[in-house]
Amino acid sequence: MRTRIFAHRGASQYAPENTMPAFQLAYEMNADGIETDVQLTKDEIPVLIHDENVRRTTNGTGFVQDYTLNELKQLDAGSWFSSSYTNTSIVTLEKFLQWISSKTLELNIEFKNNVIDYKNLENIVYHMVRDYGVLDRTTFSSFNPRSMERMNKLDPNVNTAFLTTSKVRRLTQFVQSIGCNGLHVKYRVLSTQLAEESDKYGIDLRVFTINRPAQMSRCFKLNCAGIFTDVPDLAMSKRANYPN
Ligand code: G3P
Ligand code: MG
Repeated sequence: MRTRIFAHRGASQYAPENTMPAFQLAYEMNADGIETDVQLTKDEIPVLIHDENVRRTTNGTGFVQDYTLNELKQLDAGSWFSSSYTNTSIVTLEKFLQWISSKTLELNIEFKNNVIDYKNLENIVYHMVRDYGVLDRTTFSSFNPRSMERMNKLDPNVNTAFLTTSKVRRLTQFVQSIGCNGLHVKYRVLSTQLAEESDKYGIDLRVFTINRPAQMSRCFKLNCAGIFTDVPDLAMSKRANYPN
């Protein structure tokens, strides 16, 4: 299978990350899939946002977990990026699933629970994804290995991936020990040995965040299962040179 191209937080080089315009652009650029980050509001509604604090990507301050959904919806999640996106709002997981369920895009839902380990996050998200009928094209991932263990317990057939930014020994063994079938690594962790080992153990190796052509080429050559990129249009055109 060719290396799959996931739009990282949507086509986030061109539109505010994790918003509907960024997802829509990724779709129009023919990305294979979309990566997004999920957290819970105070009233336990899953919303798509990367940081635990809303400060960087909205006009508000404070933690996602301290806002109700209604309060979060008042925030402007677009104007920090460009005035042409003023009043773009934070997206709920439900709205995203509604939108994507009629398309063939793959999904990577990253649980942002390595700083705040939201109780019920896995449970709520899992059931919503299942109810929208997109479980078989979804991979759940987290930097928190306990979260991935909880997911695998909830449904042993679900696709799960452990995320890491560090080069540690016996990574593939660790991934297997927590029941994941995927490993998502920062580019600096990638090596020929890791790619070969992942292949040998049937682990899907995906790499983030790949915005440079030379890095894309290396991932394609190593036959990685996927890359996460802010520039899916560039990645799609580069991949055309690797027809495997
Ligand atoms: O899921 C890949 C990548 O998104 C992980 O890091 O910080 O961009 O969510 P981050
Ligand atoms: Mg992410």
